[in-house]
Amino acid sequence: MAEQARDERFDHLFASTVRDRLDGGRYGGSASPAAEDAVPLTYGFPYPESFPTAELVAATETVLEEEAADVLQYGGGEYAERLHDGLLAREHDRGIDASREELIVTNGATYALDAIASTFVDPGDEVLVESPTFVWSLSVLDNRGAELTGVALDDNGLDPDALEATLEAREAAGEPTPKLLYTIPEFQNPTGATLTRERRERVLELAAEYDFLIVADDAYGELRFAGESPPPLAAMDDSGRVIRVGTVSKTIAPGVRTGWIVAAEPLAEQIGTMVAGGTNTFTQSVLGRYIDAGHYGPTLERLLDGYEKRRDAMLDALERHLPAGSSWTEPEGGFFLWVTLPEGVDAEEMLPLAAEEGVTYLPGERFFVDDSGRGTRSARLSFSHCSPAELDEGIAALARATERYLD
Ligand SMILES: Cc1ncc(COP(=O)(O)O)c(C=O)c1O
Repeated sequence: MAEQARDERFDHLFASTVRDRLDGGRYGGSASPAAEDAVPLTYGFPYPESFPTAELVAATETVLEEEAADVLQYGGGEYAERLHDGLLAREHDRGIDASREELIVTNGATYALDAIASTFVDPGDEVLVESPTFVWSLSVLDNRGAELTGVALDDNGLDPDALEATLEAREAAGEPTPKLLYTIPEFQNPTGATLTRERRERVLELAAEYDFLIVADDAYGELRFAGESPPPLAAMDDSGRVIRVGTVSKTIAPGVRTGWIVAAEPLAEQIGTMVAGGTNTFTQSVLGRYIDAGHYGPTLERLLDGYEKRRDAMLDALERHLPAGSSWTEPEGGFFLWVTLPEGVDAEEMLPLAAEEGVTYLPGERFFVDDSGRGTRSARLSFSHCSPAELDEGIAALARATERYLD
């Protein structure tokens, strides 16, 4: 069938950022071949049974019975306020003493990042990101006109030497210092790496020395099922340079679209002005009740068990099925691991073949801001969504595809 031409009638009316990418986005892309029967290792979706459905039904009934007029009104009522208390208590448990004025509840972490970008980024401003990093965050920053520079990362998270070298080089060339560093310090998306304590200290020192802010996206920090967590960057910082982003997408459900920002008051005050149109106080009330009723902790315990089983199943399958020359990260939490396939594999090119064999994934190259060809042999594999048996099938299919591709 002939491909239909894109309707170009309104192109001249689009903003330049949109016009610039009409023929394909600058970053990433999450398209995956349509392969109904393939095991999807593609997206960071929680597994379906993880959702605390009964608890959310009960919480919804309670807030509507007790507070409908406030819950359904602009601004919310007592239960929406309790969500703030609950989130501040969880932040406190992670070593962060934030006040009510330093907390902004948003419609998800992505929305939080968008509000932060719109607060700090003028078109053309430099933002540093990990290389590789979460593609959708790249798009959000790109939407605001940020110029993105990647900083290398390894099994211990962002490399402070690489960060320092980038900052020094920019300074030597007379280029402006970046305003923001966007980092995912815990169980990074896509690699699963966690930033070590020593590296956290150096990153904080560099932020002070070069005068930039650190946006720490902590989507996965609570999902540690093994090992010890270093303190969050914000807990180690006394300069007010760390802006934390959180979400309940991975610990309750992404459909509730609720996240938050914790930032020093002078920053939070301005970010708050960029959170346009209010947020979803109905959902916030339901979550306030959910936390108040004591469901957060026990659900999290259940999830940790579910994700650990899935991570173990994937590691076990990788060990059994993948051909020699393959390697992978072994995260102690989160949703993803990063696999590197044998010499000669191009994971992007191999994707249709993999789908035919029965598995889909996101090719590694899509997570880099530059087209240096890094990540060509790699892929992000999500262990969060499928059952342990499906994960085994998916990895077996990945192994078959790799062998066929290299044949
Ligand atoms: C690092 C990171 N940040 C943010 C998000 C999205 O969070 P939310 O659903 O709250 O927008 C994800 C989800 O995939 C993620 O991996």
